Amino acid sequence: MSLSKQNQRIALFDSGVGGLTVLREVYRQLPKESVLYFADNARLPYGIRSQAEIIEFVREIMTWLGTQDVKMVVMACNTSSALALETIRAEYDIPILGLILPGARAAVNIGRRIGVIATPATAASNAYRYAIQEIDPTTQVWQVGCPEFVPIIENNEVDSPYTREIAEQYLAPLLEKQIDSLIYGCTHYRHLERVFKSILPTNVAIIDPATHVVAALDQELELLALKNDRSPLETRFCVSGSIDQFTRIGKEWLGFTPEVEQIYLKKIATVAALQDEG
Ligand code: DGL
Repeated sequence: MSLSKQNQRIALFDSGVGGLTVLREVYRQLPKESVLYFADNARLPYGIRSQAEIIEFVREIMTWLGTQDVKMVVMACNTSSALALETIRAEYDIPILGLILPGARAAVNIGRRIGVIATPATAASNAYRYAIQEIDPTTQVWQVGCPEFVPIIENNEVDSPYTREIAEQYLAPLLEKQIDSLIYGCTHYRHLERVFKSILPTNVAIIDPATHVVAALDQELELLALKNDRSPLETRFCVSGSIDQFTRIGKEWLGFTPEVEQIYLKKIATVAALQDEG
């Protein structure tokens, strides 16, 4: 039996465990909603790839999601939001939310000296700078690309002394600028919160766009009359790569052991295309 639109899942996707920080916000802010979480961990990290590659990967994910009964998609990945959201939105019928605008809006409410830590691709895209300065052209924005953070988090090395050392290096140029807020420009980074809090002065506000994208999702569901009116379904967890790696970190972060399915994206995209032709 097929589900009514309202009772369908919301899809969240990321390259790996980063988007679980968004999922946790969905559990906190929208406990009645059902979720399908997809991690493209076979092709992680996204943040060192070209825009063309990222758009292609996101297309494959969207094509698959189109076959999975989801009512809305959240790109729980800043790199995809920065480099693919605009293109992909024009290609698919389903409502899609990204992290950049909700994060930018939250930052301008705090102050005018804003630091962004992000993947190299997101930092180079200037997506946060453009979004923030479009809201308030008087703000100053400094961005640092942090290529080492995602592998550290995915390899579960958050507590190693090297992690603190590298975090100090990445944050130093921002602290020199006396920022008043720091945006986590990558959904993975909340996994490093302990480390950041031990380095940042207490007057620097931390902005996690995950919190704000879920508030935007709440409004969007309301606006489109898509809120779930039943008890939520179990969260579906799907990955393109290692189930074990995802489960290990997912369990720590979620507080329960996720049951994880493996999905072969390319094959599914091809099958869907053949069906379309036929
Ligand atoms: N967590 C994603 C982001 O927010 C992707 C990180 C990566 O795969 O490099 O940018």
